[in-house]
Amino acid sequence: MTEPTAFKSTDPITTHPTIFVILGITGDLAGRKLLPALLELFSKNLLPQRFAIVGFSRRTFSREEFRELIREHLNVRPGQFREEDIKHFLDHMTYEQGLFNDPVSYNRLAERLQTIDDRWGQCSNKIFHLSVPPNLYEGILTHLANSKLTLPCDDMTGWTRVLIEKPFGNDINTARSLDRMLGKLFKEKQIFRIDHYLAKEALQNILAFRFTNPIFESIWSRQHIDKVHIKLFEKGDLADRGAFYDDIGAVRDMGQNHMLAMLALIAMNKPTSFVTEAIRSERANILKYLKVIPRKLLKTSVVRGQYTGYLRERGVKPGSNTETYFRIRAEVGNARWKGVPFYLESGKALAESKTEIDVYFKESSKGILRRKSASGDIPNILTFRIQPDEGIKLKFNVKTPGYGFDVEPKTLRFKYSDVSSFKDAIPNDYERLIRDAFSGDQTLFASTDEIIASWKFITPIIENLNILPLKLYEKGATEVE
Ligand code: BG6
Repeated sequence: MTEPTAFKSTDPITTHPTIFVILGITGDLAGRKLLPALLELFSKNLLPQRFAIVGFSRRTFSREEFRELIREHLNVRPGQFREEDIKHFLDHMTYEQGLFNDPVSYNRLAERLQTIDDRWGQCSNKIFHLSVPPNLYEGILTHLANSKLTLPCDDMTGWTRVLIEKPFGNDINTARSLDRMLGKLFKEKQIFRIDHYLAKEALQNILAFRFTNPIFESIWSRQHIDKVHIKLFEKGDLADRGAFYDDIGAVRDMGQNHMLAMLALIAMNKPTSFVTEAIRSERANILKYLKVIPRKLLKTSVVRGQYTGYLRERGVKPGSNTETYFRIRAEVGNARWKGVPFYLESGKALAESKTEIDVYFKESSKGILRRKSASGDIPNILTFRIQPDEGIKLKFNVKTPGYGFDVEPKTLRFKYSDVSSFKDAIPNDYERLIRDAFSGDQTLFASTDEIIASWKFITPIIENLNILPLKLYEKGATEVE
């Protein structure tokens, strides 16, 4: 067996001068995820020597006000970064006020970028991150293209790339139209579609675990696996995202992307090699096998819920039926997985925040055990803990010491935090994604095939959600029944 080669993402980051443009820099995402990740990369010396961050948004700021806003956003813990690093980082930032629907604003943005290039005496690379609600994507992308901002300086220098966030569209049709539009404006190698779950260290580890440990891969199929349960539970509620979330709901927010990304990594076939295209194409291939749930089976395959108090959240429409919780019984219809249920379960305002994947193996104890344990059947369960407390555990049976022949479950456990060289080495997901966007590696970004395949499965569910009862659950619930 050939050993997998490392992901291409170990490629060095570009050293060529690069400008990172954040459209919507005053928004929640830029503040919570992008800027802290950029500062982290900067403090680790992982950005090109010459780089600039240009913020673009509606509000007017003086230079000082803008620096203050970014400082607030960065929300640095005392001692987390050296003050000197923060100051230098802020020195790399500038701001351009503009309206997202105003062509003149984009011309001004283009001039600002040109001024930076002139100062550097070089044509820089440009990365555009759309930190805005998805309904603004189309307009912004068109304006960027019209103002020629997305064109490289020539064939050799100054590449341009665009980073866009999920949700990619609202259903299969809007996803296709966004895709057509992206395809008209950019080449595939310029488009980086972010599903930040793909960049979580413990998720990437699933591939390493599966494909470098033959003892598991040989039993990775319907012959030995009984079911898979993918859980993404959040303790937090809407946290001021009411207006955005109410139009989307949990299935679009988490189901179409993060949950199916996890399913793909668990179920996909071994790529022919560990290079970007092979990995992305196997992720997409398995999603294409997801069996669409017919309307008549929806009631037995899908549960939707809403936490009590949701209707009082700011931005939520009166009487809204938007789901904050779902459980979907999915099936992958290929020879390897036929008949194995994949439960996808996710919700907000639950008892605890945790993301994990339980793989239940079929039992083979028949005829061996004289009697079952007090707790009933004891299957082997392999759990990938994605966050927090990243790790892997395996539940297995041992004989209870003594004169009888009873068995009881015990656990083998690996935790990243127990390994001194691992515990501080886990890059934050956005740090990893930005680094890869700088180095041009698309492995951890969703391909158009993955997105279309996941919408094909999810669209019939969301179109018919309203035929299902909306189960109300208390904040902090441990289960929704
Ligand atoms: C986002 C969703 O994509 O992922 C949020 O829009 C969710 O609703 C978040 O809270 C969860 O991400 P993480 O990395 O905090 O688990």
